[in-house]
Amino acid sequence: MTSSTDSSGLTQGEMIYEGKAKRLYNTDNPERTIIEYKDSFTAFNGEKRAEMSGKGRLNNLISSNIFEYLADNDVPLHYIERIDENRQLAVKVKIFPLEVVMRNITTGSLCKRLGVQEGLHLQRPLLEFYYKDDALGDPIVTEDHALLFGWATEEDLFQIKRITLRVNDLLRNLFSSLGIVLVDFKLEFGRDAAGNLLLSDEISPDTCRFWDSSTGDRLDKDRFRKDLGDVLGAYEEIWRRLSERKK
Ligand code: TMP
Ligand code: ASP
Repeated sequence: MTSSTDSSGLTQGEMIYEGKAKRLYNTDNPERTIIEYKDSFTAFNGEKRAEMSGKGRLNNLISSNIFEYLADNDVPLHYIERIDENRQLAVKVKIFPLEVVMRNITTGSLCKRLGVQEGLHLQRPLLEFYYKDDALGDPIVTEDHALLFGWATEEDLFQIKRITLRVNDLLRNLFSSLGIVLVDFKLEFGRDAAGNLLLSDEISPDTCRFWDSSTGDRLDKDRFRKDLGDVLGAYEEIWRRLSERKK
């Protein structure tokens, strides 16, 4: 089945990948892909699952809005435009098999792994790499693993770290103006056919931790992971604040 997109004029072709939260489709341009955000929630490497109607739309709106803010600030992105409520048009990339996590405040797996206290404000952002492999449960790795096993070059890692730090500065400012603390987040990077290294995947409450600056309320996927309730209400709140932002 094919369907035409509005603004790009590209036609959606076969599905090429289905992940936990998104589906990727070919288009009639081999350098473009269509990303469709699903209504599924998963956590703990897919062990916990739920469907919530409207979740895909919210993550697509939030992620598109954040990518547009980053594009305005010259961050190299795979994102091109939002097509409709659940879909984005993007540059087709080959994803590096690395999840890049940056943390400003201690929580989550960092505290579990190292036994450090939760809620510590780090003196500077902490950067971690995880090897993207569901069967292995995305283990934490060092830069040396990435280099020796050929997952990325020195130059790739240099650019990935530089862009991640820049994204952290930009997003901390953005969210702080919305009354939200950016606690941590995960990025993925890819390379396009021309060899450009591009920030890829999504940036949403699935991939970031957002704490309300005044109440400390969790406004991200931790509401689902920890059964805190009103999961979609939190995503709506992030979207409300982003969409009402004065540009
Ligand atoms: P963690 O504390 O569970 O390692 O999560 C760190 C950040 O990475 C947090 O903002 C959530 C995000 N994240 C993902 O986007 N995908 C994942 O699979 C995991 C485990 C975390
Ligand atoms: N993304 C992972 C999963 O779906 C883990 C997580 O975000 O907690 O299972």
